[in-house]
Amino acid sequence: MSAEIFAKVQQLIEEIEAAKPATKEEVEQFRVRFLGSKNIIKPLFGEIVKVENTRKKEYGQLCNTAKTTAEAKFAALQEWLEAQADAADSMAIDLTAPADPFPVGSRHPVSIVMNRIVDIFARIGFTVVEGPEVETDWYNFTAMNTPEDHPARDMQDTFYIQNSKTWLLRTHTSPVQARVMERTKPPIRIIAPGRVYRNETISARSHAQFHQVEGLYIDENVSFADLKQTLMFFAQEMFGSAKIRLRPSFFPFTEPSAEMDVWLGTDTPENARLTKGTGWLEILGCGMVDPQVLENCGIDSKKYTGFAFGMGIERQALRLFSIPDIRFLFESDVRFLKQFAAAI
Ligand code: DAH
Repeated sequence: MSAEIFAKVQQLIEEIEAAKPATKEEVEQFRVRFLGSKNIIKPLFGEIVKVENTRKKEYGQLCNTAKTTAEAKFAALQEWLEAQADAADSMAIDLTAPADPFPVGSRHPVSIVMNRIVDIFARIGFTVVEGPEVETDWYNFTAMNTPEDHPARDMQDTFYIQNSKTWLLRTHTSPVQARVMERTKPPIRIIAPGRVYRNETISARSHAQFHQVEGLYIDENVSFADLKQTLMFFAQEMFGSAKIRLRPSFFPFTEPSAEMDVWLGTDTPENARLTKGTGWLEILGCGMVDPQVLENCGIDSKKYTGFAFGMGIERQALRLFSIPDIRFLFESDVRFLKQFAAAI
């Protein structure tokens, strides 16, 4: 009696091993037959009551083998089905179809203008240098001939680092002049683009953080005519036929000093606001480097003269792209930014 029952299980194991389901449906049939809720292995376990006691353990193990063999085979069949489906998927890809568009960002208008400025000055022999944004009082003010009691030193204008009297966020790119003069022998012809910080009320015209490009040219016999010529060349390259004016001004580090304005007009309320009703937008300060600054930085002011300038980048972006408010430049709104994709 026992031998027959054993043979039945043994046969089933052989059937499981030999099974070759070739389709998804046949795999499913396999699962239902051997592993489903009404599978044919289950009742065989019950047959154990008919097995003599000495062979009960052996019989139980054989039934288990039938079950695990079915499970292992089913797992392998499933893997095979998945691999087949993947292969079918990849066959379905049309390699000649156009790719999905990949959205690339656009350059920020500040970067566009900065690159244009660098490019214009590179063409007339200026090289680019950089300086730190966290500066010392010496480079930012003292070396630049800004006396202790100058209003620019007030806490109102300058962000000092943790109430330090020495360390601050540079308020302009002019300290780069001092750093370069200290380590370079004339002739010097550099521009220094970078970010600057001022403790100012944010408005349509000004921001607490903005960008400048500093310029410095030192050699023998450099004159105000050279300065004017250089800046007029720059203005023409940057603004084409736009009206430009140079007017006298004051800076502690230059003598004489001037400022350059570009014409915006007052025809729109935005332009009137940006130019405070004058029509002119100030874009840079400049002048002949004060001999005291040269001496502060170890350059012989009897032998050398030079000119310097510092221009605001955001202001030029407002003019070039007719942006009505400087705050747009710092809000990271993609609806604003993506309009510059074509400007490079
Ligand atoms: N540093 C000045 C400012 O931020 C701009 C400036 C004026 C820079 C005259 C210069 C200069 O190099 O010669 O307002």
